[in-house]
Amino acid sequence: MESENMRRKIEDEIEHTIASPVIKNKRFLEDEQLIKSEQLAVLEEIFNTNVRDMEITKLSKHFTPIFRNDHPYHIAVWGKTGTGKTLTLTYFLNLLLRLGAERNIQIRYKHLDLSTPVPCFRALNDLACLLNAMKRYQRGISLDEMMLAIEAKLADYPGYLILFIDEVDNIRRDKDTFMAFLIRRLPQKIPAKLILVFASNHLDWPDHLDPRVKSFLKMNEIIFKPYDAVDLQHILRIRVEKALCQEAIEPGVIEKIAALASYDHGDARKAVALLAKSAYLAEQRRIKVKLSLVDEAAKELDMDRYSAMLKSAPKQLQAAMASVIEAAKLQNNKRIGTADAYDAYRKFCKKARVSQLSGRAFGDLIGELDLYSFIRSRMISRGRYGRAREIILELPEELLKKIYGMILLKFQLR
Ligand SMILES: Nc1ncnc2c1ncn2[C@@H]1O[C@H](COP(=O)(O)OP(=O)(O)O)[C@@H](O)[C@H]1O
Ligand SMILES: [Mg+2]
Repeated sequence: MESENMRRKIEDEIEHTIASPVIKNKRFLEDEQLIKSEQLAVLEEIFNTNVRDMEITKLSKHFTPIFRNDHPYHIAVWGKTGTGKTLTLTYFLNLLLRLGAERNIQIRYKHLDLSTPVPCFRALNDLACLLNAMKRYQRGISLDEMMLAIEAKLADYPGYLILFIDEVDNIRRDKDTFMAFLIRRLPQKIPAKLILVFASNHLDWPDHLDPRVKSFLKMNEIIFKPYDAVDLQHILRIRVEKALCQEAIEPGVIEKIAALASYDHGDARKAVALLAKSAYLAEQRRIKVKLSLVDEAAKELDMDRYSAMLKSAPKQLQAAMASVIEAAKLQNNKRIGTADAYDAYRKFCKKARVSQLSGRAFGDLIGELDLYSFIRSRMISRGRYGRAREIILELPEELLKKIYGMILLKFQLR
């Protein structure tokens, strides 16, 4: 009987999803699941709607010397995350290859994706693999051997070589060595005309370059501004077409997501994520994607972000956060003193069987929590008693509950 019931439930669910679906093709809601050719297909449509027109024009100008047998400078592209740097360059460089092929100009381009931080060794290793100078991850060879392998591989390639170094600021160790290799050494060792394309989420990135390398670096810059609401509407509309069933979206939803996203950050990745979350909620609840759902989805995304961040944080940071929450609960006040928080922290550590840090080190943890906006802390004057630090808990109650529960679970206190 039991299994009959379950079977009916499952069938019900399937039937419902088939009868009134919200999501048509989930892959178009999650960028990571798109394969390159699909990504390019989406891009094609987008760029035909003139989003990032100005940037593409600038890129074209920059690269035209190629078609006169000249050598363009290097180029750097700056802008916040989600402003389309990777997508635009991928699109543009693919187009450039095609144009080159039509005119019998040899152009190669490689995309070195450094979206996770790596040491110089790893970055060079990845580059070597991209260029087929090596097969896979190497161990026990020197940086110099790696560089030689790259140079040897390129020894008989005479055309244009474009290296797109994406999120270049993510090189964590021996950054100067990496840059010196690309900017000073490589161009002199290979016959190809090398054009470096750097992308970074930080505007101040080149300021940290070794001056001896920097003086060699001749480059143009393009800054990607955050997307405005109109751009985001274009971007979202194409996503909706690919991923969702048109009838399931109520009027105004796209406009609302675009408005929220452009007001907050202008980050297209986050805008798409908000669309996806709204669609998932709608499908779960068996309703259409409507305006009020967007607010809910935004709130949930925020909650997801905070808990994900804390989930992967060091244990001590989690303990500190739990203690602040406990202290606030104990005093029934969202503002607490550092001493009270430290008391709660010591109790928590005992309970959770983790080692206790000194008051000073605890202060550092509080500083870190502040940095990530889990709490706000500020110095207050207490007259002749000097100054003290106050901790203020401002996250919504619901989120605090979720975070607290998650931490207890981590420490197996539940
Ligand atoms: N012009 C665009 N059209 C469609 N989607 C875009 C566009 N720009 C950004 N996106 C979306 O935002 C995500 C982030 O874009 P990306 O180019 O990776 O940004 P960045 O490299 O500047 O961080 C993309 O995966 C895509 O979902
Ligand atoms: Mg990028």
